[in-house]
Amino acid sequence: MTATLDLAQRISLISESSTMKVAAEAGRLRREGVDVVDFSAGEPDFPTPDNIKKAAVAAIDANFTKYTPTGGTPELKEAICARHHDDYGTDYKPTECLVTVGGKHAIFNLIQALVNPGDEVIIPVPYWVTYKDVVNYAGGRCVFVPSDESKGFEVTAAAIERHLSPKTKLVIINSPNNPSGSVLPDDEFRKIFALTSKRDIFLMTDECYCQFVYEASPFSIAAESGAKETVVVAGSLSKTYAMTGWRIGFALAPAPIIGAMMKLQSHSTSNPTSIAQKAAIEAMRGSQDSVPEMLAEYRRRRDFVVDRLRQIPGVSIATPKGAFYAYPNISVAYGSGRVKNSLEFSTALLEQAHVAVVPGEPFGTNDHVRISYATSMHELERGLDRIHKFVEQLR
Ligand SMILES: Cc1ncc(COP(=O)(O)O)c(C=O)c1O
Repeated sequence: MTATLDLAQRISLISESSTMKVAAEAGRLRREGVDVVDFSAGEPDFPTPDNIKKAAVAAIDANFTKYTPTGGTPELKEAICARHHDDYGTDYKPTECLVTVGGKHAIFNLIQALVNPGDEVIIPVPYWVTYKDVVNYAGGRCVFVPSDESKGFEVTAAAIERHLSPKTKLVIINSPNNPSGSVLPDDEFRKIFALTSKRDIFLMTDECYCQFVYEASPFSIAAESGAKETVVVAGSLSKTYAMTGWRIGFALAPAPIIGAMMKLQSHSTSNPTSIAQKAAIEAMRGSQDSVPEMLAEYRRRRDFVVDRLRQIPGVSIATPKGAFYAYPNISVAYGSGRVKNSLEFSTALLEQAHVAVVPGEPFGTNDHVRISYATSMHELERGLDRIHKFVEQLR
């Protein structure tokens, strides 16, 4: 008997993460013995700091290996609220905090808890791929707001205002931005908050890269007076502490929203791993020295990558001011007609020059590719040599 595979319709509302697809294809080539330079991974190449690792080992030795409360231990929630206070000047209480299985999980739970079918969600372009899929999964409608490449991809309050409607439920801001590395000026962020708070629209700030800013100080809109009523923070320890595999993220939001998210979490993942929670307490309370050390290294690499990209005739790049991504405009390569968009460019670059980058299409733009410079200078040099030659022979 042949079973027909009758999947739930809502699964068709989401697509596979394209960043993961590129990494998988690069991995396949590498297993075949090809010398691939991989700029596709959105994760720090640094190891997790020793103090954090030791806290996890101590947790295992102390048999801290059982269920914890669904939304995280009270100790970790306190530590997260205290770190957010010290870093940004906010005043969240543990009842306004939920510990999640990575930042992505916080975003998923927040959007599922807030968005009704038909609600509109404002997403500036370029955007991190996951927002679109998670909003679609909730039955919401994504409203994409363009940003100006010549102004560094910084979305403006005026552009957002033009896209608001009586159906707008949520505005999502991700600064520093994945994929462009743009950082919203604090005042522009405040203007966006003024727009949303006046209309009782929720403002989700994805603070995944907030500690990695090159030309400004770390900033959270949640510290503004009155922000706690409509601002929801999605946070992550993944990048700040080089902890991508530990899967610890968090949300800071009004207690009823946290309660709704916790209900959902209680029937899906339950608590984040107990051992990782102990490590996260150390990340929050222990030495913060590793963060500026990583930032200094990312800055050195950013400067190198931007400089090398600008040496490629016809390639332009808005200077990334945060995170660890460069988002060059490579449309000059379309001139020959051999590649027509960033998807074809990335495929050809991987197949012919053996460099993995992520095409711009899934981030909402056609003329760009994302280069992650969270990799060694040696790899950056090799990869940029190859990209330079590849673009020149395509022009
Ligand atoms: C913009 C942005 N937000 C959130 C996340 C979530 O990270 P994680 O789930 O690893 O904590 C990522 C990861 O790449 C990201 O780029």
